[in-house]
Amino acid sequence: MYFCSTANQDWSGSEYKIKIMAKLKSVYFCSNCGFESPKWMGKCSACGEWSTFVEELVRKNAVSAQEDTRSFSDIKSKPLPLKEIKADEEQRIDMSDEELNRVLGGGLVPASVVLLGGEPGIGKSTLVLQTILKLRGIRTLYVSGEESARQLKLRADRLSIENDDCLLLCETNLDDIFKHAKEVAPQFLIIDSIQTIYTESLESSPGSISQVRECASLLLKYAKQSGIPVLLVGHITKDGSIAGPKILEHIVDAVLQFEGDQHYMYRILRGIKNRYGSTAELGIYEMNQTGLREVSNPSELLLTRNHDELSGVAISAAIEGIRPFLIETQSLVSTAAYGTPQRSTTGFESRRLNMLLAVLEKRAGFKLAQKDVFLNIAGGLRVNDPGMDLAVISAVLSSSLDISIDNDTCLCGEVGLSGEIRPVNRIEQRVQEADKLGFSRILIPHNNLKGFNKKLSIEIREVKKVTDAFRMLFS
Ligand code: TYD
Ligand code: MG
Repeated sequence: MYFCSTANQDWSGSEYKIKIMAKLKSVYFCSNCGFESPKWMGKCSACGEWSTFVEELVRKNAVSAQEDTRSFSDIKSKPLPLKEIKADEEQRIDMSDEELNRVLGGGLVPASVVLLGGEPGIGKSTLVLQTILKLRGIRTLYVSGEESARQLKLRADRLSIENDDCLLLCETNLDDIFKHAKEVAPQFLIIDSIQTIYTESLESSPGSISQVRECASLLLKYAKQSGIPVLLVGHITKDGSIAGPKILEHIVDAVLQFEGDQHYMYRILRGIKNRYGSTAELGIYEMNQTGLREVSNPSELLLTRNHDELSGVAISAAIEGIRPFLIETQSLVSTAAYGTPQRSTTGFESRRLNMLLAVLEKRAGFKLAQKDVFLNIAGGLRVNDPGMDLAVISAVLSSSLDISIDNDTCLCGEVGLSGEIRPVNRIEQRVQEADKLGFSRILIPHNNLKGFNKKLSIEIREVKKVTDAFRMLFS
């Protein structure tokens, strides 16, 4: 069986030039990392996952290096020394959205391909549609393979923004999408989602690894040749990776992840890879009736300052990405009703909580083995900052002793296994944020005090061990 490859498409001509005739063959792909193998394997030798291999039909590699009969004059590329390459500062497209601009590293770079990943229903389509509707004077083509034109219209009505420069297309055939793109000549192309589109040059179904990979590389080629930026929306599997091959992450220029708990209104846009900027940047949004609202000062939303002497609440000066914010940590410690005590966490790694409880038991002498411990980070946020440790351990102890922590105190510090408080990064930003929000006291690791000489109105207290902190908080 033979078919025609579109690998050598010519974007400028009206007809596709078909150069390669190739044979179909069956290969196996690891659905976790995209590793290719000629035969089925139980365990992927690349990523070590079990039972991830799926069979797919792909075309055989057409021309190998030895068989390549093209002469040197056919080759357009040329090796150049670095100094001869012009690299003026890229003209970036302003996305009219401060959070998105920041995560992209200062705006969208022309000819770049950006992948926006996230769980279904988290708000990817809303974010994209809202962004392009706000982009004035830039002709955008939004291709949806998931929703009908009517559904998109309803969504746009909900967002209540009008923009005549924004064109919608409901199509899943990539070859047709390119024809439309050629006619419309957009300045920004969006594909929602990469898992729903397919190219006829492959036999496998949309969403399969070879389709996703082929479509993404054709779109990359389109972006690089035409200079038009392309945004791909991609779904995420249950374990949090972008569905389909990891290879997609290698193809694109930037990978952004949209995350948050569906039951809470906060959404975080995180840069995972960015060829044109830092991945430490973070965007925060709030989902409401009329779409996503940019949150420029997250601390004010994540804090409730009037927790009237409630025990089990500690405020932490945390950092996510490079942004400092103050966040509430709540804990409840109660006597275990049944045999095995429960440890339950939301927004914090449960293994880390277990470690902190062990430190509390061994280094501070508090027996929690027969207690249920519940821990909750406010706002449904998931925080990975080790600087949260001190707040977590203090919240647990506050609940256990039933003594509240002063409203005006906030904490930061990593807790080590021997009960020492280890230094944290970006201490100045943390302290400044606490100062800005009117806290009167902050507990910071002793070793962070070196080189910290800012004059602030907040009182800075240094702690060396967890027991020092407990003495300051509870005596
Ligand atoms: P959607 O963008 O469809 O998610 P995805 O593309 O990631 O699958 O978001 C759907 C959710 O967003 C849906 O549960 C409703 C909610 N939503 C709002 O709360 N307000 C709005 O204005 C819009 C458009 C959606
Ligand atoms: Mg969607």
